[in-house]
Amino acid sequence: MRLDRLLANMGAGSRKDVRKLIAQGAVRVNGAVVRDCGFDVNEAADKVEAAGKEIVYREFVYLMMNKPAGVLSCGDGVPGVKEAKDLVGDDFGFYDLSPAGRLDADSEGFLILTNDGNFIHSIISPSRNVSKEYYIRTEGVLDEADCEAFANGVVLGDGYKCLGAHLEILKADQAGGVSEAVVTVHEGKFHQVKRMALARGKKVTYLKRISVGGVALDPSLEPGEYRELTREELAKLGAF
Ligand code: URA
Repeated sequence: MRLDRLLANMGAGSRKDVRKLIAQGAVRVNGAVVRDCGFDVNEAADKVEAAGKEIVYREFVYLMMNKPAGVLSCGDGVPGVKEAKDLVGDDFGFYDLSPAGRLDADSEGFLILTNDGNFIHSIISPSRNVSKEYYIRTEGVLDEADCEAFANGVVLGDGYKCLGAHLEILKADQAGGVSEAVVTVHEGKFHQVKRMALARGKKVTYLKRISVGGVALDPSLEPGEYRELTREELAKLGAF
């Protein structure tokens, strides 16, 4: 890879900034100053330093974010729209991040952000049936008939029959007319859980994704915080 590209990709500055650094003699490869922006770096083997700091090349990053409500998982490039990747700081913000699966703007919880397109495809591909777990609160009291209907595949308003889903009722408050539950689904249709609940006459008033593919959202992450997925978590998610 070209030296200027590697430095820019790793957040050492814009292409223009890193060219200046290189011209100033502030960049070393394997200890020797290199002033050629197009110098061919072996990113796996060469030691690259810019202004005395080692630049370790990584092609892909995988973040677990606790998405807050009020932020889109993906703004599709619409100017002025706040999206999840805007919450990523200087540590990973220079990567071209996209979400692996979406959450509604008013939903919270586990969102994977990565620059690995193949991984995104493998997570959202309907053929892989990656499980997603949601904690929900509803207006309307969930009951055993709802559990059965979810297990058999709820038919949505548009006639689509969902795959079987697991509904575990945590709280059914008859007096208050509200419920809490955990729903596990194996597909990711638009507004899926809200529409499933609605098809059973219940309105989801709060929704938080708490796990993806058997990997739980780290409880220490406050809304808007993120961390890298560990190797074990990535292995569970089928990254390698
Ligand atoms: N189902 C929904 O209805 N909304 C989400 O954000 C995720 C799943």
